[in-house]
Amino acid sequence: IEVMLQPTPALTWVSTGGILDLYIFLGPDAQSVIRQYLQVIGYPMMPPYWSLGFHLCRWGYTTTNTTWNVAQRMHNANFPMDVQWNDLDYADKRRVFTFDPWRFGDLPEMVEEFHKRGMKYILILDPGISTTSPPGTYRPFDDGLKRDVFIKNATGQILIGKVWPGPTAFPDFTNSETRQWWEDCIRDFHSRVPVDGLWIDMNEPANFVQGSLEGCPDSDIENPPYTPRVVGGQLNSGTLCMSAQQKLSTHYNLHNIYGLTEAYATHSALMKVRGKRPFVLSRSSYPGIGRFSGVWTGDVRSDWEQLRYSIPAVLQFSMFGVPLVGADICGFGGNTTEELCVRWMQLGAFYPFMRNHNDKPNLALQPYVFGQKAQAAMRSALNIRYSLLPFLYTLFHHAHTSAETVARPLFVEFPTDPSCQIIDRQFLWGSSLLISPVLEQGAEELAVYLPPGTWYSLYNGQPFHSKGQYLLLPAPLDTINVHVREGHILPQQEPALTTTASRSNPFFLTVALSAGGWAWGHLFWDDGDSLDTYEMGNYCYVTFIAGQVEKTQVVCICILKKPVYKIMYLNPVVIYLSLCLFPQVLTVTSLALPMSQVFTVQWVL
Ligand code: GLC
Repeated sequence: IEVMLQPTPALTWVSTGGILDLYIFLGPDAQSVIRQYLQVIGYPMMPPYWSLGFHLCRWGYTTTNTTWNVAQRMHNANFPMDVQWNDLDYADKRRVFTFDPWRFGDLPEMVEEFHKRGMKYILILDPGISTTSPPGTYRPFDDGLKRDVFIKNATGQILIGKVWPGPTAFPDFTNSETRQWWEDCIRDFHSRVPVDGLWIDMNEPANFVQGSLEGCPDSDIENPPYTPRVVGGQLNSGTLCMSAQQKLSTHYNLHNIYGLTEAYATHSALMKVRGKRPFVLSRSSYPGIGRFSGVWTGDVRSDWEQLRYSIPAVLQFSMFGVPLVGADICGFGGNTTEELCVRWMQLGAFYPFMRNHNDKPNLALQPYVFGQKAQAAMRSALNIRYSLLPFLYTLFHHAHTSAETVARPLFVEFPTDPSCQIIDRQFLWGSSLLISPVLEQGAEELAVYLPPGTWYSLYNGQPFHSKGQYLLLPAPLDTINVHVREGHILPQQEPALTTTASRSNPFFLTVALSAGGWAWGHLFWDDGDSLDTYEMGNYCYVTFIAGQVEKTQVVCICILKKPVYKIMYLNPVVIYLSLCLFPQVLTVTSLALPMSQVFTVQWVL
């Protein structure tokens, strides 16, 4: 399908044929359109809490030693980080479900060590199964052959293409036997290497030869009368023959959902094998994939333009029901500069999915390789993210249960403000946190649009009263501008080097009172990892309300919605007032109140 945006405005759709179902969502507002769309394609999954932490990856961590040292240096330099990753380097001759006995011989032990540290481990899993190992030496292929799980060519032989390990066969995930075989492969591998999630790549499916090693037959579905503008100019360029046969239909009819079917199979395999909430990250996507997987935006270049484009990319996936999305921080292709990488880590700290990843030939991107100033800026961005994770997690809960967006375009939140319609350099988390990153080389200040109302700096509470206008704000290299919208309460937690540690740190609230003295907010809290906690009722949902009882008094009430055990008043409580730069800021510390009980905090102005 080719879709063109016309200036009218209008869309022109050109389809080569196939099955076309059209749905029209009437809204009327953008948020309603998104919800109506998600009612058709499915609401997104609830990600594990740890997956909202920082992920570090690259192609080229060539041994377990190298990999371990990277995580160790991150730790020593006090960078919060939850998940260490490996790319293809781990695999023996690049064959999935194996690990290199020389360079990654102690991979199982390394993963156990990460777990002891409260960290997680993820590796890459490509769909292409190597076909050239001697029979009896590579089970995934031997078993796959026996169980007839691979896609066939037009004449019924297994279609052989070429990906990283050389000649490969492609599992047909529309076949239930394939899904069972995939689960068995994952179970077997997991019993040796207890990975916490899987990164499914090359699943368009990508193929380094056109169609197959033997080419494709000359037919109408390989060369339809009209070919949309696809990479390589033909439908089978860089992928399988359109005439290839899958259980459900021809590849022509199924091509676009190859990644979706793989994500579904991987998600349900991980769920069964680990018994916990699955984490899957996919490159290919299709409507509905957010139920099973997060998505990253593929091989972006290390340059300022791609830094800028990552915002609309992330916001689009938000609207497509894939809230767990991010771009490769600091860029995948080419070398970064220190300044670009700092700015990208700052923006990346507000991608719902935060991973720094790098291509093999490039200079390192790990935060600790940069100068002290750059490191400090990156550390501070990571600490801000970690402090906000309870809030971010709650937004994911709202996405999972009510089809709300996590990273949100301004026009979705402020549909009647014409200025917001074109803003793609700033975005929100939910309805209350405005993120305004620097996206230009050398910039030290930034024109930030603030929709009408009062916005408070997240860092020092400085209020900005906006009529709906751009303000020029300082944005030195150590700062990403983040503002809290009046009337909102953000649940936060002291950061730590992992979410395992931060989850037992004290909570705190940032309360941004409205002009009328009101604010409200929520916290969704569960064990962060079990399946279906919401569906089974194994969670807390806390509502925080701040409001004026009398003119001179402000009350902050926290209500546990479900179930309410008892009401506890802490009146008067010992409160410590710290004097701040801005008179509106009241810091109440050392309360040590259990989040699971109702409490009231009162103070007199
Ligand atoms: C693809 C992926 C990239 C990965 C590489 C090697 O290019 O998009 O993220 O590093 O393959 O596996």
